Amino acid sequence: MTTTTTGTTNGTTTARGSVGTAHTRVEGRDKVTGAARYAGEIPFAGLAHGWLALSTVTRGRVRSVETAPVLGMPGVLTVLHHENAPRLDSDYVGLLGVPPDPSAALFQHDRVPHRGWPVALVVAETSEQAREAAEALVVHYEQEPHDVAFSAGRPDAYPVDGHMPAVAEKGDLESALATSTVVVDAEYTTPEEHHNPMEPHAATAHWDGGRLEVVDSNQGTTWVAGDLAKLFSLDPASVRVRSEHVGGGFGSKGIRAHQVAAVMAATVLQRPVRVVMTRRQMFSLAGYRSPTTQRVRLGADAQGRLRALEHRCLNITSTVREFVEPGAAPARVMYDADAHHTANRVVRLDVPTPTWMRAPGEAPGSFALEAALDELAEKCGIDPIELRARNEPERGPVSGLPFSSRNLLTCFREGARRFGWADRDPRPGLRRDGRWLLGTGTAAASFPAGAGPSTAGLTAEPDGTFTVRIAASDIGTGARTALTLVAADALGVAPDRVRVRIGDSDFGPAMIAGGSMGTRSWSWAVTIAADELRERLALGADIPPAGITVRSDTTEAIGALAKKERHSFGAQFAEVAVDVTTGEVRVRRMLGIFAAGRVVNPLTARSQFLGGMIWGISMALHEEAVRDPASGGHVGADLAGYHVATHADVPLIEADWIDDPDPDDPVGIKGIGEIGIVGAAAAIANAVWHATGVRHRSLPIRPDRVLSAGTGAAHA
Ligand code: MOS
Repeated sequence: MTTTTTGTTNGTTTARGSVGTAHTRVEGRDKVTGAARYAGEIPFAGLAHGWLALSTVTRGRVRSVETAPVLGMPGVLTVLHHENAPRLDSDYVGLLGVPPDPSAALFQHDRVPHRGWPVALVVAETSEQAREAAEALVVHYEQEPHDVAFSAGRPDAYPVDGHMPAVAEKGDLESALATSTVVVDAEYTTPEEHHNPMEPHAATAHWDGGRLEVVDSNQGTTWVAGDLAKLFSLDPASVRVRSEHVGGGFGSKGIRAHQVAAVMAATVLQRPVRVVMTRRQMFSLAGYRSPTTQRVRLGADAQGRLRALEHRCLNITSTVREFVEPGAAPARVMYDADAHHTANRVVRLDVPTPTWMRAPGEAPGSFALEAALDELAEKCGIDPIELRARNEPERGPVSGLPFSSRNLLTCFREGARRFGWADRDPRPGLRRDGRWLLGTGTAAASFPAGAGPSTAGLTAEPDGTFTVRIAASDIGTGARTALTLVAADALGVAPDRVRVRIGDSDFGPAMIAGGSMGTRSWSWAVTIAADELRERLALGADIPPAGITVRSDTTEAIGALAKKERHSFGAQFAEVAVDVTTGEVRVRRMLGIFAAGRVVNPLTARSQFLGGMIWGISMALHEEAVRDPASGGHVGADLAGYHVATHADVPLIEADWIDDPDPDDPVGIKGIGEIGIVGAAAAIANAVWHATGVRHRSLPIRPDRVLSAGTGAAHA
């Protein structure tokens, strides 16, 4: 032990104030100069490349895989399939009680449950050779008739609990509707949507002195490491997963086929193997948001006070796993009624299993609920914001629990002021700009504010700097930078004295980057570690060459949180122009005001909100994965065929927030990753109604839909 005293916080500044101050990404220079390496581009000596071959039938069995011709092709090392692949143990409960996606339990049987199901992995010296061979591989199938037709009237739909009960009912719905002065009864649909992050899923697996190491792109290294250990029946301590930089996740980057394929091949060949999904493969292997059909029935008195609220959401899942897109979730938080019925149901089809996609449940659910509220406002002759103010619940409508904080109306008031809502004529179809009809709309947003147990290590280095080690994942959110600011404030030092290392399962268990809970969960662990380290350093401890390290674990603190309704809230505003001759809808401006906890880094937080709102434009107007009933596959499974909002579609957008620190979080954080998309599509759809006088209850609001529905008011 040395006797140096430099670098303790004694006598140095106790600067605070990094949290809440704009800070560019600490890894920004590495990213723009290309120094930051992503999972698919990190060099490995002796690297082999795997290419997945996917089923070309939608339902049936693999009869045989003709490996011999392919094994004779240049560079081909092996072909893995259901007859020769290592056996896996996929019979376990994974994260949040959800088993791994069945397509990740590779090559364990001959069943084909959907088109694009992985049937073989070809491994070769180069990725070009692997691709050539995978495309030449002949697989014989026994084909069976398939069913991919989704509709509201499916008799085989049934309720399924997700992370919430499938059904919640209080009061007599039919009698409350019968005695309501005003009733809205409408059906809404949203299409299949895909996240498809810019960086495709990619993993490199290799064995290193008895340890399995996987370099991957994911939303949680300890999650993926734990699942790989279970799947391959390995000692968890012998599996290390690293994921330093991630080019987007949005819910799609968990345990998936590519990591399992890479580990299988690395085990069989005893050399490093990389597997990267192609853009097209992501459409069947990366998960997606289920299409929904939703029925909303609202009954209100003459003053717009809700007497009846029903929200039923139906989504699809695969034949091999139940996944629920809980569209009825927002209704359980947003509005109360004497009779309050909500239900989430699924129908099983021969399709890939859907998964979490940014604001699962809330994104499609808020479209239906917030559009229905707008219809109710119209019928009652009440301003949509006033209608919401009249229906602010005292407590959770279903849970009966108090809200930890609920600043929805503050968001609406601030948003209305800045958007100029007071000047709005509520009558539709009145404003024109040449061939464009203009309208404005608003909608509410909410998203749960949660935290998951995490551990962190924090080291005081002899040179006066500090190192945080936490298995956090920065999927583009700016989490690494946020944690740097949080640690700096907790330590009372400037951020440039803090280095944050993330994306390594060896750093110990931590919450995933999911559920808008990452930064909050990790900040909590970092704060506790920093508090303890400050105490140690305040005692005048000498810092040895290896530094002084403390570890924290938030499991107990988070377990001790009182049960409350904990959410972020927001108010979305949109102005649209609708071309009466082409049916084109263009968003002219958007404003989102959020009450989403303490904002750690205004720079990246704003980007998060804007990203969600832009996705809302995309959801409202562009996105739609079309499944061909005959083939069971997608039409246009790429980013040319699957339309997303691009620069020209995105107008002036403003996102801002009000002061809303979480009362029970050490830093005041709630989480901001997902709420930006919630309510955004409804605000746009409501604006389209205001422009045209026609309600569009099916997304996306395509030009052909606008034209065939007509622009009622304009032609009247
Ligand atoms: Mo998010 S859909 O929880 O990654």
